[in-house]
Amino acid sequence: MANTILVGAQWGDEGKGKIIDVLTERADIVVRTQGGNNAGHTVFLGPQKYVLHLVPSGILRPRKKCVIGNGVVVDPVGLVGEIEGLRKLGVQIQGNLFVSETAHLVLPYHRELDAQRESLKGRQKIGTTKRGIGPAYGDKAARVGLRLIDLLQPERFEELLRRRIRENNAVLKAFGAKPLSFKKVHADYRQAGDRLAPFVTNTVVWLNEAMRRGADILFEGAQGTFLDIDHGTYPFVTSSNTTAGGACTGSGVPPHRIDRVVGVMKAYTTRVGEGPLPTENAEIADLLHGMGREFGATTGRPRRCGWFDAVATRHAAMINGLDDLAVTNLDGLDTVETLKVCVAYRAHGKRYDHVPSDVETLAACTPVYAEFPGWRAPTTRARRWKQLPVKARQYLKAIAELTGARLAIASVGPARDQTIFV
Ligand code: IMP
Ligand code: MG
Repeated sequence: MANTILVGAQWGDEGKGKIIDVLTERADIVVRTQGGNNAGHTVFLGPQKYVLHLVPSGILRPRKKCVIGNGVVVDPVGLVGEIEGLRKLGVQIQGNLFVSETAHLVLPYHRELDAQRESLKGRQKIGTTKRGIGPAYGDKAARVGLRLIDLLQPERFEELLRRRIRENNAVLKAFGAKPLSFKKVHADYRQAGDRLAPFVTNTVVWLNEAMRRGADILFEGAQGTFLDIDHGTYPFVTSSNTTAGGACTGSGVPPHRIDRVVGVMKAYTTRVGEGPLPTENAEIADLLHGMGREFGATTGRPRRCGWFDAVATRHAAMINGLDDLAVTNLDGLDTVETLKVCVAYRAHGKRYDHVPSDVETLAACTPVYAEFPGWRAPTTRARRWKQLPVKARQYLKAIAELTGARLAIASVGPARDQTIFV
């Protein structure tokens, strides 16, 4: 399959989990390179539903190797729980999962600080998943983070953790929050460390050696382009590089080894958490929520919904270098009479063809819409391009063209076979 980076072209929850699962068939290794257990990838295999947070969805295919790369922040207790859950469902983990020894740890004070900072922000809150992701990456950048390699050395870990808890308890005290017990955190984390030890290795060397032997790698992006810490709607973003470049820094695979970048996008737009969403629309939100769709996999929050935003996806195509597109959730639009697609923004009497950098300007943007006739027929049974209604094909072609990448996949439902290769 060649080495492929898969990224979300919108605000996350584009249906990456399912597309990764489908593409994994042609890969040898699947790698997560950023984010943490703020992510939630939902995959259906027959009647069984799997929600993955840290473990790459490739784990659901026997014989595929999965890597949690150096760019990921790992909550070890959460990861042990996830591994246990998968084992109970009969998924083979040992020998298939490799975790980077230089991945940073998410600790309880990160989660606590995440919650405290959010409540202090009041109406300016980001709407984080409260998994401690921002504070963990903050510590990494401030060079006071702890890594898996530290966790696996008991004496070193004890000393570092003692110091970090002392400092963070002082901060928590200032917030009026309860201090953490070193003893409890230490015991929980050491126990999780022992459970994770068999999976922890130098994944940078392991991946590069696998490539030398001819292995094909699929890089599994988490979140989406507009949640990127550099390119997203800052400060309403997550704390990692969710765009294509993050796959290289987060894995130790050099850029010239990447052959293809695939962008996943919904046939409409959604976002969880706060921050601007120019095409947000109550009518389409009611429609999708009424169908039981668009509730967050990690937090259960109803997602905000809107029309397809081609300004955003065009911007995503530019910064990720998208070659191919996978459009998901087409069936969500099966009953809509007239579809709107945002082709430009207007704010303060000016037209924008790119996403403006300033979040205040973006919040002031109103969409300029093009309209498309709905197909008003179920698409969930289509398995080939020609089986889709003509108007659905026209819509898909139009949004791909406006985005500026090749339409490669259309998805019409959660099952593996509800996938159309164009
Ligand atoms: P954090 O990543 O928990 O710090 O949250 C920051 C922002 O990113 C919030 O708006 C979250 O809702 C959003 N976010 C984080 N992870 C995901 C994801 O996997 N899908 C969609 N949104 C996410
Ligand atoms: Mg998700």
